[in-house]
Amino acid sequence: MVSAIPHYTLNDGTQLPAIGFGTYPLTGDDGIKAMISAIENGYRLLDTAVNYGNEDEVGEAVRQSGIARDDIAVTTKIPGRHHEYDQAVSSVEDALRRLGLDHVDLVLIHWPNPSVGKYREAWRALVDVRERGLATSIGVSNFTRQHLADIIHDTGVTPAVNQIELHPYFPQAEMRAVHAELGIQTESWSPLGKRSAPFDQQPVTDAAEAHGVAPSQVILRWQLQLGALPLPKSANPQRQRENLDVTGFQLTEQEMNAITALGRPHGRLFGGDPDIHEEM
Ligand SMILES: NC(=O)c1ccc[n+]([C@@H]2O[C@H](COP(=O)([O-])OP(=O)(O)OC[C@H]3O[C@@H](n4cnc5c(N)ncnc54)[C@H](OP(=O)(O)O)[C@@H]3O)[C@@H](O)[C@H]2O)c1
Repeated sequence: MVSAIPHYTLNDGTQLPAIGFGTYPLTGDDGIKAMISAIENGYRLLDTAVNYGNEDEVGEAVRQSGIARDDIAVTTKIPGRHHEYDQAVSSVEDALRRLGLDHVDLVLIHWPNPSVGKYREAWRALVDVRERGLATSIGVSNFTRQHLADIIHDTGVTPAVNQIELHPYFPQAEMRAVHAELGIQTESWSPLGKRSAPFDQQPVTDAAEAHGVAPSQVILRWQLQLGALPLPKSANPQRQRENLDVTGFQLTEQEMNAITALGRPHGRLFGGDPDIHEEM
């Protein structure tokens, strides 16, 4: 296990590890094995979703790991087809049954699906779910400034987290500024850039050479220095360790800026603009 990772304190006073483990698309026995390996390697935050179809496996990995439940944070996300109030509540209850847990540490609305127009209802449901103790913290994913303003206006409750696409080709300067303004923790999905990871780009390779680390470690260190909480996925134990081992060096301001400058207006991996892209 690598050295202890730092924590972020959320706007509701709870804490999350500064790096979590992405579990998509890990399923079945191999999925459980990969998740247990991640926990053994030091991850204490597992990110799943109803739509990943692996909540059973996540619960199983937590139980088999031998680590106390309270020492592992579990996040799930409710899907677009469950945005009506009653369905959103049942969605969380069903997720807990699959996970075999009495609460999750964080539950998110997975996508806003604005054409459906029910994310405000889903948020009211999550506020009540938290009230009942089924989730310690509540948040959203893929929400824009407007979606955030809508749900905060309705309930007076600011999400603790917004999980968004964030990697060097799409550094999300504007949404990070919105989050800073509102006190929302940024979580990064596809934090390495998935299959388009810029491991061979000069700002990344130069920093890797300067600090004697791997390009993947440079990117995850960049995430931490931006104040984001990355959720790298790896089924490989060695890469799992490597991805967590990013606290022993510091990128300079110049290195940070050069990596951020890899950003492109059309840098999203698959056109996941939350005003247009919808997932049910
Ligand atoms: N909220 C949302 O809408 C949303 C959308 C997408 C993803 N997510 C979450 O974000 C998590 C991570 O996203 P992601 O899987 O799309 O992207 P990612 O973590 O950026 O990339 C994962 C890919 O990179 C490889 N990899 C991991 N570590 C590596 C390393 N050190 N060196 C080289 N290659 C490495 C992995 O392969 P190996 O497994 O072979 O190592 C895998 O193919 C997901 O698991 C999910 O939890 C959320």
